[in-house]
Amino acid sequence: MKQITDISSLRNEIDNWRQAGESVALVPTMGSLHKGHMNLVSLAHEHAERVVVSIFVNPTQFRPGEDFAEYPRTLATDARRLARAGADILFAPSSEEIYPEGTEQMTTVSVKALSEIFCGAARPGHFDGVTSVVCRLFNMVAPDVAVFGQKDYQQLVILRRMASDLHIPVNIIAGQTQREKNGLALSSRNQYLSKEEQKAAPTIYWALADCRQQLLDGQRDLDRLEAEGLDRLHAAGLDPEFFAIRKASDLSPPKADSQHLVVLTAARLGAARLIDNVLVEL
Ligand code: PAJ
Repeated sequence: MKQITDISSLRNEIDNWRQAGESVALVPTMGSLHKGHMNLVSLAHEHAERVVVSIFVNPTQFRPGEDFAEYPRTLATDARRLARAGADILFAPSSEEIYPEGTEQMTTVSVKALSEIFCGAARPGHFDGVTSVVCRLFNMVAPDVAVFGQKDYQQLVILRRMASDLHIPVNIIAGQTQREKNGLALSSRNQYLSKEEQKAAPTIYWALADCRQQLLDGQRDLDRLEAEGLDRLHAAGLDPEFFAIRKASDLSPPKADSQHLVVLTAARLGAARLIDNVLVEL
C-alpha cells in the first residue's frame, strides 16, 4: 500500500491504473478506523480492481465548539490495518492540500433542504462541509465507485443527490451498519461514552428495531411510533433530537403506499451525539 499526502502523486498513481484499464473505488473516512470502515474497504474490493481509502479529519464539517480538536487521530494504526486489508492507496492529505486557499472563502457545495433537516438542523453547515470535501475527493480520484456506510444515512442520501445533481459519474454503494453484539452501531465517537453510558447506548438500536417490527406487523400510526421511540430513549436516560419514519429515497414523509422506509434517530448521551437508523421494506 502506498501512503500519499499530495494530490499530484495521487493523480499519477491513479493515471497508471487507468492506463492499465483498472477500475477504482474510493472509501472516504476520517480515520480512527473500526470494523464498520473495514467492511466498506472489503465492499470496495468487490466492486473495483483498485481501492483508495482517504483519511482526512475535515475541519469544515465540524461546527465551532464541536469535537474537531479531540477527534481521535490514529494514522499509524489505521495505515497498518488498511495495508493488511489490501488497500492500494491511503490518501491522508493535510488541510492545506485540500483547501489551499483556506476555508473562509472556499467554494462550497451545498445540497439544499436535505442538508437542513435532522442532523443538519442540529449541526447547521455540517453537511455543506461533508459535500464540499467529498466533491473535492471525487474530483481528485474520479472513482468509478464510492463506498459509504448506511450508518450515516442522511449523509448517504445527500451525497447521492450531490453526485446526481452535479452529474458526477460515480456509482455510490452503501455498506451495512456494523454493530457491537449489544446492537450499538460502531462509531469512532463511542469512545466518548463512560462505562455507565455504554450500557444505555444500545437502546438507540433496540428502539429502532422495535419500531421496524411494529411497521412490519402492520402498525401504521407513524406519529404514535415516533412518540414511542422518543419516550423509550428518554426513559433510558438519552436526550433524543429526533426519531422519525421517512421515505428511504429522499427522507420525505411517507405516503400511504410507500414501501421503502427508514427510521432515523439521533440522541445525546453525555459527551457523545449518537445516530443510527434501520431500513424497513414493507
Ligand atoms: P467517518 O465518520 O470516518 O465515516 C467514514 C465512512 O464509514 C462513512 O461512509 C460512514 O457512514 C461509515 N461508517 C461509520 N460507522 C460505520 C458503521 N458502524 N458501519 C458501517 N459504516 C460505517 O462519514 C465520514 O467519516 C465523513 O463525513 C466523510 C464522508 C469521510 C467526509 O468527511
